[in-house]
Amino acid sequence: MRIPADKVDEIYRVADIVEIISDYVTLKRKGANYWALSPFVKEKSPSFSVNPAKGIYKCFSSGKGGNAISFLMEMEGYSYPEALMHIAKKYNIDIPETEADENYEKNKNHIESLYIILQFAAQFFHKQLLESEAGKSIALRYFKERGILESTINTFQLGYAPDSWDALAKEAIAGQYKEEYLTESGLCFPSEKTGNLIDRFRDRIMFPILNATGKIVGFGGRIMSNKEKEAKYINSPESPVYHKSQVLFGLYQARNAIREKNLCILTEGYMDVLALYQSGIQNVVASSGTALTEEQVKLMKRFTKNVLLIYDGDAPGIKAALRGTDVLVAEGLSVKILILPDNHDPDSYTKAYGTEAFLKFSEKNAMDFMDFKILQVKEFMAGDNSPRTESERIQQLAQTLILIPDSIEQQMYVRQTAAKMNIPEEWLHQSMATAKIQLQQQEVKELRRNNQPKEAPLIEMKTFERLDTASQEKELLRILLNHHDRVFKVITEPEEGGEPVTEEIPVTLFFISELDGVTFDNPLYETIKEEIFRHYNSSTPFMINRFINETDAQVSNLISELLTHTHSLSENWLKYDMLTPSLDHDLQVAVQDSILYYKYYRILKLLQETREKLKTATPEEEDELFESFVFLTKLKNEIEVQKEIVGAVKPDDVHL
Ligand code: CTP
Ligand code: MN
Repeated sequence: MRIPADKVDEIYRVADIVEIISDYVTLKRKGANYWALSPFVKEKSPSFSVNPAKGIYKCFSSGKGGNAISFLMEMEGYSYPEALMHIAKKYNIDIPETEADENYEKNKNHIESLYIILQFAAQFFHKQLLESEAGKSIALRYFKERGILESTINTFQLGYAPDSWDALAKEAIAGQYKEEYLTESGLCFPSEKTGNLIDRFRDRIMFPILNATGKIVGFGGRIMSNKEKEAKYINSPESPVYHKSQVLFGLYQARNAIREKNLCILTEGYMDVLALYQSGIQNVVASSGTALTEEQVKLMKRFTKNVLLIYDGDAPGIKAALRGTDVLVAEGLSVKILILPDNHDPDSYTKAYGTEAFLKFSEKNAMDFMDFKILQVKEFMAGDNSPRTESERIQQLAQTLILIPDSIEQQMYVRQTAAKMNIPEEWLHQSMATAKIQLQQQEVKELRRNNQPKEAPLIEMKTFERLDTASQEKELLRILLNHHDRVFKVITEPEEGGEPVTEEIPVTLFFISELDGVTFDNPLYETIKEEIFRHYNSSTPFMINRFINETDAQVSNLISELLTHTHSLSENWLKYDMLTPSLDHDLQVAVQDSILYYKYYRILKLLQETREKLKTATPEEEDELFESFVFLTKLKNEIEVQKEIVGAVKPDDVHL
């Protein structure tokens, strides 16, 4: 989404903070300011004030404050452009489509079409549930038997996929929907035999999965009988609009309650969300049976920093709770864990004992994450208090402790944990140091895995045809964009007898010197890189927001992706921020490593080219080529030794 700079100005000009906030709370004028009950916390007397002259709000209860745009971001969980678009719509400001870029338009329409067909499918399933014979007699009855209310069926747009090979496909095609969207959205797939479209979901109750802005992106479908050989749930496959690691079931419906209660309850399943929601506990979402991801945690974080994890008490449940805890803690959330007895999940528990009992149980038994971990660790090899087992226990605790990003909080937890384990704090500190190194090594490994080209899991000379430097270039850009205005310190080892020299190097300058004369293969990346470099010595500093607004959509989309996309190497590198004491050092490592890996890939590419040329070279050419081959191989080996790249390129593959 691109909003031209003049439109951004206009949006800022017309946005009336009192009007915008009045959509959410009732403001009363007192003197120069307006006052209201805070929309962020429950309170009896107003502590939320708006100053129209300055265009700002301040909530004294929650400490939040900002302008109209940040209010919308806070309240709706919008991104910056989403908040701008919200205001544009409210004040009828036309945002012109970017015509310059056909691809962008095409792609946008394409995505829009997927949303539309998914919405159509949800309506189809919903109607089947409420109106068709089978829907009413089988699916609706199933919901009733499980205690699902009509209001819940409506709130969550639940449905029924009929027992037919192609009911949805037929209906969609009759309605002029394109086949390609049916397949791309994962609703249908072509039959291997006939090529005709087959519905993915058949004879199942349907749960639409919404993204954070309320658009349907996929479905989960549950079987109603206990057919052993069929999966209990079928879920939409990944698609351009559905990335299962990036959605939380129920979040859209729960977001206001989450903010109000300042707590997000995280359960495992669709049915848990429905059961709690309709019994009045509406601040509830589900990770839908998958391991909790960083992206999901970031979604929650838009609305609250407090999470209650509810898992059932069997071994996989506890394992999932522990894993989920680590992800949440690493993102700086405050985490409690509730383990339900007798393999109950929230759905079955509330059904058996009622909401009141659930709330009571939860209040009494929800455990701070570290206490939960201590409990688990104590149960690990219970009875065995040998030094080795004790050490293992401490190590396990350390692995979680190092994830706490706030250092004061971390200190407090270390102190408490030591007391509860009845050991000196020092032991924990030592284990934490080891754990940090292990984590770093693990991340480097992961990083290396991610660094491999997609089609070829192992880098082999044979597959070099497909090797391109695009992903490395992208990674460099990501770091450059995020840190172009930073500086890191380099300490040079002292000459004999001398003092160590500390030098400050601006990140951009380091890139400029290391990439001197290098042109990125990808022209889009090259444009952005050069733009940043160009500004380095000029009087106007590089301003990302400006650039995003002034450049074409393709570039600004890419920049936004690089600034926000979480599934990246740099994110792993950024984790170094909390692993080692010095930020500068971490940044330096990230910058130097990314450049080194980039060089490594370029060397591999050159090696391959040289090898190709050697095939047809004349004897004179051969000498020269062979020389450069040897030189490049030496460079390659140096990097592999330095970065411990093992077996990335097998020696056998390099022969002439
Ligand atoms: N799940 C899945 N595929 C499966 C089993 C489970 O995707 N074959 C996901 C679903 O999102 C499900 C969640 O994991 O909601 C939790 O699984 P489970 O506890 O088995 O299901 P419930 O939601 O509790 O459903 P029910 O109570 O109807 O058994
Ligand atoms: Mn269940």
